[in-house]
Amino acid sequence: VQGLHVGIIMDGNGRWAAAQGWQRVAGHKRGAQSVRRVVEAAPDLGIGTLTLYAFSSDNWQRPEREVSVLMSLLKRYLQSETANCVANGVRISIIGRRDRLDPALLSAITAAEDATLHCTTLHLRLAIDYSARDAIVRAAQSLANCKLITRDLFADVLARDKHDLRSAGDVDLIIRTGGEQRLSDFLLWESAYAELYFTNRMWPEFGAKDLSDAIVALHSRDRRFGRVETTAAAAS
Ligand code: IPE
Ligand code: IPE
Ligand code: MG
Repeated sequence: VQGLHVGIIMDGNGRWAAAQGWQRVAGHKRGAQSVRRVVEAAPDLGIGTLTLYAFSSDNWQRPEREVSVLMSLLKRYLQSETANCVANGVRISIIGRRDRLDPALLSAITAAEDATLHCTTLHLRLAIDYSARDAIVRAAQSLANCKLITRDLFADVLARDKHDLRSAGDVDLIIRTGGEQRLSDFLLWESAYAELYFTNRMWPEFGAKDLSDAIVALHSRDRRFGRVETTAAAAS
């Protein structure tokens, strides 16, 4: 899949719900609709890979009921969206640990991944039980017997999933909704030169226009990758 790689930290569900006088989980339910909106809008904005932070490994520390609602929403999302994804060329993969997920969610994951494997319009990666630092440590461990570890090799191992030996690549843009300005253990390796875009918009209110604003902002940035800026280099 060609195109931009955008990562989104989908934050602010709980605060959005509280502001409406509702329980936090109502915000998570509404947040699932925002996922549909951004997945639909992404291809026309030049996005080839979209990595969505759905559940962090630290999120296990939330109240049991909230965790179980989140897990069942993820399962339902996968079950209800797979056919739609196939129709729209959206390939689904999950990144993160799988050994702590419940069997029903795991089979929904496998079914969604298998059914969409051939899709090439958009690669939708959902980060579930994900920790960037854990992922880095596991990649390092799997290379324990390797004599020469290069950056490219490491990046490939990090991005490797069950079906995929090719790296999803560096992230071009990380968007975080909900007003906080931090990465919360998301794509730490892959975001080495990512542009960061923070918005006060809460995730349940985030829509196609917000995604498009973020992409416009990305295109206005001068990404130098440590070099001298393009215009100055041309002048000298
Ligand atoms: C993001 O919204 C969803 C997850 C982390 C699973 P939050 O639940 O963190 O909402 P806030 O940040 O408390 O408002
Ligand atoms: C990050 O949000 C994780 C997801 C959006 C899934 P959190 O709400 O868990 O992050 P912190 O606690 O504010 O750093
Ligand atoms: Mg939060």
